Amino acid sequence: MSLLIIGSDRLNDFFEGTKAAAPTRDVRAYPDVGNRDDIRYALAWKAPAGELANYKNLELIVSVGAGVDHLFNDPDLPNVPIVRYVDPDLTARMTQYVTLQTLYHVRRMTEHQQQQRDKVWAYLPEPMPAEVRVGIMGTGVLGQAAARALSALGYKLNGWSRSAKSINGMTCFAGDEGLPEFLAATDILVVLLPFTPATKGIVNRELLRQLSSDGNRHHRLPGPVLINAGRGGLQVEADILAALDAGGLYAASLDVFETEPLPASSAFWSHPRVVLTPHNAAESATESISRYFIRQIERLESGQPLENVVDPKVGY
Ligand code: NAP
Ligand code: GLV
Repeated sequence: MSLLIIGSDRLNDFFEGTKAAAPTRDVRAYPDVGNRDDIRYALAWKAPAGELANYKNLELIVSVGAGVDHLFNDPDLPNVPIVRYVDPDLTARMTQYVTLQTLYHVRRMTEHQQQQRDKVWAYLPEPMPAEVRVGIMGTGVLGQAAARALSALGYKLNGWSRSAKSINGMTCFAGDEGLPEFLAATDILVVLLPFTPATKGIVNRELLRQLSSDGNRHHRLPGPVLINAGRGGLQVEADILAALDAGGLYAASLDVFETEPLPASSAFWSHPRVVLTPHNAAESATESISRYFIRQIERLESGQPLENVVDPKVGY
């Protein structure tokens, strides 16, 4: 009945956190695992491909993150329940990130920062929140929380998801057939999708081209904005750069990238209208994740349903 911590660069913190949360349990940290047959439960983040298949008594995998693409990347992933991390602290941090980036661009802060560097005192027109439509791709836990915060600030909210939905305060669109209408009504595109075979590269030239156009966007917002805090694999970076340079996109905030860490050669580093962060839009305390891991184990052992179980058929 041993517990395994595997893959994370915070391995030691999770090891200590899990021992503190369950002092009587046998916790092991990869690669110092002893007899692999002892392992029943794994807390994983980017485990080496093929490694989890070696634990023949494994009954549960808990993902350190909300996203589980790091698990489905593994062609030999064992067929056991996978629970993803859902937590109020993580959700609150993502809401803050999305709100911060939305306000930053609506208030034209990249331009004000440049004016500050150039010692230029000049007024830039800004739309009112009610004149700006924020479109959220992915109206799950994180998308809905961000939408509530932006709605409270007066923004107009649209949402796009796989299945049809009805969400208070938001105009909802779904599936391939709903995408063009959603995009045409979006000034600020917030991407909070999971990375799956269906969403790979979805933020590309064709999608960006369909965002709100000059005729149907408030004239005080200089152009559409992209905010991606989902996964780097959702975006085609060359297309984003081309859209920024051609004026199809006014600005972008990117927390995730095709290659992480972002290579020094990336043009994003020095682009004047790009705000980039190192995949830290929504971190969570290791202690909370360790406690969540133990909670899922206790639920499994006491016959209660696991929380936030992933559907392997759709990959999120
Ligand atoms: P979630 O609750 O599972 O929500 C996912 C949403 O995406 C759902 O609305 C789902 O539609 C929609 N979706 C999935 N596939 C789709 C498709 N093919 N077409 C249209 N919509 C699709 O996930 P979450 O907790 O909000 O997290 C979302 C993602 O955020 C994670 O997967 C992770 O990649 C990312 N994330 C990033 C950070 C960071 O620090 N940057 C932190 C945490 C999470 P349905 O509602 O119809 O199912
Ligand atoms: C972070 O990227 C997560 O998926 O929680």
